[in-house]
Amino acid sequence: MQTEPLITWSEPVREYVGFVAQFLGLGAVGFRFAAVRSRATTSHSPDERAFYAGALRRAALIGLPAMAVQAGLFFAGLPQTAARAHSTVGALITGTLQTGSATVLFVLALVGLGLAAASIPAGWPLALVGAVGATLTGVLAGQWARLVNPAHRVAAGLWIGTLFILVVAGLGALLQDERMRAHRGRVAADMVNGFSPLALTCGMLVVASGLTTAWTHLNPLSSLWTTPYGYALIAKLALVAVVFGLGAWNWRRARPSLGSEDAAHAIRRSSRGELTAAALVLVATAILISLPAPRPAGAPTPAPAPAPAPAASVAQ
Ligand code: HEM
Repeated sequence: MQTEPLITWSEPVREYVGFVAQFLGLGAVGFRFAAVRSRATTSHSPDERAFYAGALRRAALIGLPAMAVQAGLFFAGLPQTAARAHSTVGALITGTLQTGSATVLFVLALVGLGLAAASIPAGWPLALVGAVGATLTGVLAGQWARLVNPAHRVAAGLWIGTLFILVVAGLGALLQDERMRAHRGRVAADMVNGFSPLALTCGMLVVASGLTTAWTHLNPLSSLWTTPYGYALIAKLALVAVVFGLGAWNWRRARPSLGSEDAAHAIRRSSRGELTAAALVLVATAILISLPAPRPAGAPTPAPAPAPAPAASVAQ
């Protein structure tokens, strides 16, 4: 008799693409609302206003295609979800609160990021509501218990995604912009100091929601060291420790010394290390959630699951 493979490798690849797309979409809005805030319009220096406006445009231009990929994965999964519910895609969108609102929120996020990419500031609040809301639609179906994973994703995405946009669209551009030569140290400090409270809050939420979801999945607890799911979780947590270690370095050591161009270069370098480790955390996570979750001894073996729709994890 042929045994079922433990993992179908297309699944973690698809999950990984979904994670990256979601993190970049959330990162764009995190950059706008935490790192830049209102400085694109209120800064006294015209050079600085022009720099921030350019940085926001770049952030939106990264977030827009990422959001399009995320929405594409969601809509591509709908026919399968509809088939499972013996329904049609149209009926799912118009007749179920969760899918209907996810659809509206994706459209809102895409329109918002499109406007922001065209330098229309009104796009950003729409993008914020759409990008965050689309992930949390499970709660609309009254499924509070199913909010933990999406909350984990939103917190992780806002933290790591914003760091990515900050490094690429913020610090990277700042350190190349000749008009900003005299202001580089201070502007880098402003953006990093704006990002820091978001990173701290999201870091704490990631740990709280991560521990909650781990506790509900590790059933019994010994499956942490006796099952492939547990091994993948241990590998993930080892990588998570590196991300937190580098994050703590950036927060406690690199950030307080900001103010000069050299310090801006230094924090960009160490942030790249943090991002590399976070990319590996996502690889481990994509494998983790593609593995069968542990079941208590004697629990019935679940029927083989249909190929998972990426949308399922978005709207879960
Ligand atoms: C850098 C930090 C972290 C990042 C970027 C991250 C990212 C993610 C993402 C994107 C998911 C997928 C959620 C979903 O399917 O909707 C996930 C799942 C998970 N995370 Fe994390 N996470 C981090 C830290 C942690 C921590 C500290 C824990 C604590 C134990 C944890 C435990 C878990 C578990 C158990 C799952 C799997 C849930 C399942 O099987 O459905 N994560 N993580």
